[in-house]
Amino acid sequence: MKKILTTEFPKIETERLLLNQPVRNDIENIVEILNTEIYSKYTINIPFPYTAESAEFWIELAEQGFKNKTQYIFAIRTKEKSKLIGGIDLGIESRFNHAELGYWLDETYWNHGYMTEAVRALINFGFTELNLKRIYATHFDFNPASGKVILKCGMEKEGVLKCHTYKDGKYQNHVLYSIINK
Ligand SMILES: CC(C)(COP(=O)(O)OP(=O)(O)OC[C@H]1O[C@@H](n2cnc3c(N)ncnc32)[C@H](O)[C@@H]1OP(=O)(O)O)[C@@H](O)C(=O)NCCC(=O)NCCS
Repeated sequence: MKKILTTEFPKIETERLLLNQPVRNDIENIVEILNTEIYSKYTINIPFPYTAESAEFWIELAEQGFKNKTQYIFAIRTKEKSKLIGGIDLGIESRFNHAELGYWLDETYWNHGYMTEAVRALINFGFTELNLKRIYATHFDFNPASGKVILKCGMEKEGVLKCHTYKDGKYQNHVLYSIINK
């Protein structure tokens, strides 16, 4: 894996993917991917319907997060076409030197190992470039594919956060995982 880090927004290259800044030119593409109910079902922060304003908000979060060093939000692109196919982020809690990982991928690309590739790269970025101590992630207990990705990337299951959020009319259990920079 090759990384290119400057004072500019970071770029992370993997075998098949390029992780870099989401930009306004991506808006149409992002809306086309995310304006389906499945993403809102499996995530906390992706709304449905998903509009151009939702995408604009996400792009601004990426800009602000990088500027303030509070959040690293990357577009996931295929190297081949440079087309945005997903998003991945680390939300930084600097006083504890830890971060929460989140991600989504265009449904047409599921089950080809793309997110595993992106998550491995972002964990490496978090540990080597940001020097984080702990990266953690949770998923709803009805989203086993997300758990698979996390485990394949070397995270360990820590337990279940019972009734951790309230969403879609009920309290939701989250499965919690982490990886420690030793
Ligand atoms: C979760 C998500 C990012 C996975 O991306 P992906 O690129 O398909 O992931 P990968 O191909 O790297 O790995 C998926 C794994 O889950 C497995 N899987 C898929 N559906 C599954 C299911 N219903 N039950 C159990 N395992 C499942 C796949 O077989 C694969 O494991 P394998 O490599 O051992 O065969 C994608 O499904 C997604 O964007 N979902 C909607 C948003 C979301 O859930 N975000 C995460 C919120 S915590």
